[in-house]
Amino acid sequence: MQFIINGETVEVAADIRTSLLDLLRNYLGFTGTKKGCDQGACGACTVLVDGERINSCLALAVQYQHRNITTVEGLARNGSLHPLQQAFIDHDGFQCGYCTPGQLCSAIGMASEIERNIPSVVTKDLSATSVMLDETEFRERMSGNLCRCGAYNGIVEAISEATV
Ligand code: FES
Repeated sequence: MQFIINGETVEVAADIRTSLLDLLRNYLGFTGTKKGCDQGACGACTVLVDGERINSCLALAVQYQHRNITTVEGLARNGSLHPLQQAFIDHDGFQCGYCTPGQLCSAIGMASEIERNIPSVVTKDLSATSVMLDETEFRERMSGNLCRCGAYNGIVEAISEATV
């Protein structure tokens, strides 16, 4: 199977039944993507496919060949953290950090969703994840990503700073 992951084309021989999550972690070493529930309930495994967020534990890898897959390892560019990564650090948007890769990918995917669906309230600068969004709305939109440490206030502050 052939995939485009973080801008690089990779080929891998894997069982046709392999989930995208297991392919990333077990076959390709992208262990930044985490396995929590493995049944679509926690969001720890969230990655971006062509800019859209998905739960990779629910996705068969074979269906995502030749698509642009972005994992947390692909967010930093040219030695600089993505603005949202820096905001999570600045606002203590984590405790143990296990959910953080999924939170980051999900928030970036959310910004993209907002731009596509509600263009009147967003800017066009997605490189900085720039959207204007009511806190209540983005809490709802991020509700698929759980944080067992309860670092939600920091997460909300980080997303607010990086996306407004
Ligand atoms: Fe995929 Fe929990 S591991 S949603």
